[in-house]
Amino acid sequence: MKPSNPAKNTSKNSRVKKNLPKKIQFFSQKTIRQLAQICTLPAYVYSEKKLQQAATELQAMPHAYGLTLRFAIKADPNKNLLTLFDKRGLHFLASSTYETERILLAGIAASKILITSQEPIDAPSLRRFLKQGAEVSISSLYQLLSYAKAKIITQKTPITLRLNIDSPVDIHYKTNVSGRTSSFGIWHEHIASCLKIASQYKLHITRLHIHAASGINSSQWLGCAKAAFKILHHFPEVRTLNLGGGFKARRDSLDIRSDIKKIGTEVKQIFIAFYAKHGRKLALEIEPGGFLTAEAGVLLAQVADIVTTGPASQGGRNFLKLNAGMNDLIRPSLYGSRHEISLIPMQPRNIKEKLQTKHYIVVGHCCENGDLFTPEKGNPNIHESIKLPLAKTGDYVLIGAAGGYGSALSSNYNSFPLAAEYLLASDGQLLCIRKRQTLQQITGNEIRQNLGLLA
Ligand SMILES: Cc1ncc(COP(=O)(O)O)c(C=O)c1O
Repeated sequence: MKPSNPAKNTSKNSRVKKNLPKKIQFFSQKTIRQLAQICTLPAYVYSEKKLQQAATELQAMPHAYGLTLRFAIKADPNKNLLTLFDKRGLHFLASSTYETERILLAGIAASKILITSQEPIDAPSLRRFLKQGAEVSISSLYQLLSYAKAKIITQKTPITLRLNIDSPVDIHYKTNVSGRTSSFGIWHEHIASCLKIASQYKLHITRLHIHAASGINSSQWLGCAKAAFKILHHFPEVRTLNLGGGFKARRDSLDIRSDIKKIGTEVKQIFIAFYAKHGRKLALEIEPGGFLTAEAGVLLAQVADIVTTGPASQGGRNFLKLNAGMNDLIRPSLYGSRHEISLIPMQPRNIKEKLQTKHYIVVGHCCENGDLFTPEKGNPNIHESIKLPLAKTGDYVLIGAAGGYGSALSSNYNSFPLAAEYLLASDGQLLCIRKRQTLQQITGNEIRQNLGLLA
């Protein structure tokens, strides 16, 4: 019988680990076993050193006339990460009212926040944010007109427009936010309408904001930057060009990480050329989320069960079921994204056992066939088996580069509590930065309140 969900075997590709390396992600095996003893599993564990390194790398990006580095907090909004980046001088991008409140609650100055929201922001909140010094990136004609009509934005407000400029991006449609199939930003053919509203309400558009997609390669990122310059002549008052995030982190051994220095060097030339031609110096802004966090975090879980559906010759598979799932890390199920997976035996193995390996499909604990950790690249509908050391229940499984959009996208599906988060500080101290959620917290808002009879 033809298998309903074909599985691929990756024994030939570079994801295969013949022997367990001494260092897995940024941990030694000893540290992982220690972490597993101390932490409530499953757990997210971040390395402060790696977070700092990513920030340093991005802050050193070559630029012509100034660089502002914003952290897109959607990638991981834990306040410990926010304050860590704040101390390093980063600014922030909030994607909702709640994210904005969260940054403010962390004690960060409003003047460091740029807010861009799919949903129009309610008037009292937006008024308050702007009064405190935050800025807003307007991402639809409706937002522009309604904020102007309500006098939330006036001629004194520096206005940022988020534009959809139909950038040349070829990537999983779920992470591509540009082009005619995407609702993000004001479609570039509507620039004339923006200018009309701006002129009617005497608004000053001082920043353009273009974020095209996530996890794109360097040439696509540069392609988007070049496309942005083609529409700049419409906006003579613009002094800052925010080119978004989207840099590619290395989540899987096949991923090619963005070369920030190279991108910066090329982008700098474009800024210089623009100044030479138009006499306008533009400051650069970037706002990565994944690149700042992904490689700095892992999801540490355990093998909860091992099942087989018979020999591979008959279409059978071996499954490792973890005590974590799509509720903790949904990226593989959502986008077919692959993260390096390592298995660390709970107990050290003898030499003979150490040599034994097996192919497994790694799945989560949710009651959902789509809950998997080993999809074919870019295709959440197809399993790929990976070669791992022979597994036993209780063994530790480390899912790498899970720091960005891992915890942030987690849910209470199947009523699993949100995982705890830990930070391995640069001085070697292990800090718990979020406790595991309790069942009381999950059910705490469930009530039965009579709101009266409807007519
Ligand atoms: C407007 C905006 N800026 C920045 C980012 C961060 O993107 P990334 O995590 O790919 O760097 C996103 C993510 O979707 C975004 O929507």
